[in-house]
Amino acid sequence: MTLKCLLASFIHVCHKSDPDLEQCLMKSVEEIRPHLVKGAPEYNIPSLEPLIMQELISEEAVGMKILTTNVSAYGCSDFIVKGINVDLDKQVYELHIDIPKLRIEADYTVDGKLLLLPVRGNGNLEANVTDCVSTCILQGELYEKDGETYSRFITIDLKTKVGGGHVRLENLFNGDKVILGLMNDVINKNLDAFLQELMPVIDKALGHTFLQIANDIVSRWTLNQLFPQ
Ligand SMILES: *[C@@H]1O[C@H](CO)[C@@H](O)[C@H](O)[C@H]1NC(C)=O
Ligand SMILES: *[C@@H]1O[C@H](CO)[C@@H](O)[C@H](O)[C@H]1NC(C)=O
Repeated sequence: MTLKCLLASFIHVCHKSDPDLEQCLMKSVEEIRPHLVKGAPEYNIPSLEPLIMQELISEEAVGMKILTTNVSAYGCSDFIVKGINVDLDKQVYELHIDIPKLRIEADYTVDGKLLLLPVRGNGNLEANVTDCVSTCILQGELYEKDGETYSRFITIDLKTKVGGGHVRLENLFNGDKVILGLMNDVINKNLDAFLQELMPVIDKALGHTFLQIANDIVSRWTLNQLFPQ
């Protein structure tokens, strides 16, 4: 099989002169989804389910210091592409993506005061984050290799706004259900503040992963194979 055949079997190829280039690109992104769910080692594509973030997230919320580690996010691949704007000359790709629901699991440590009571401990955290609306801007550039023109993405800017959600902290305070209930109430009543801290970290991790995947895909084919005239 030639490279070109392989490309066609992988994604929907869009013609540069297609009057509906943006619709065509939306279809291509849709066709990549199954590879993102399962992962495709032959294309170096990791599975996005779940997306695992090892980095430490430290936030000050409702007067408490909350450290979150070992974060897994489920549902990233259920994205809906609402629109794509592309400027091939400037190599700018802007994607509008909705994610209906993300489920986040993490380990956490908390230290602070809740209604004057000292609160210290650790446990598991689960959060459902709903109605996420993302804008993703990819800046690409062209380069020459072996006499052919290729493209690559150099930066990604992903910003997600969250519609709502619910957080549950578990097994804190050796199972003291009263304090745990109180803590969960306070966090959910201040959910906006909580998510405002959490989402940029998730955006960064997702953006980093998307950039790698996008580059692994486009580096395999020349610009003319990706966007034939
Ligand atoms: C990370 O979380 C997963 C499940 O959410 C768990 O199976 C795993 O043991 C955790 N890893 C660490 C290092 O705590
Ligand atoms: C998140 O949603 C799932 C399934 O819809 C549900 O089982 C779980 O209890 C929810 N978790 C939270 C923290 O609301």
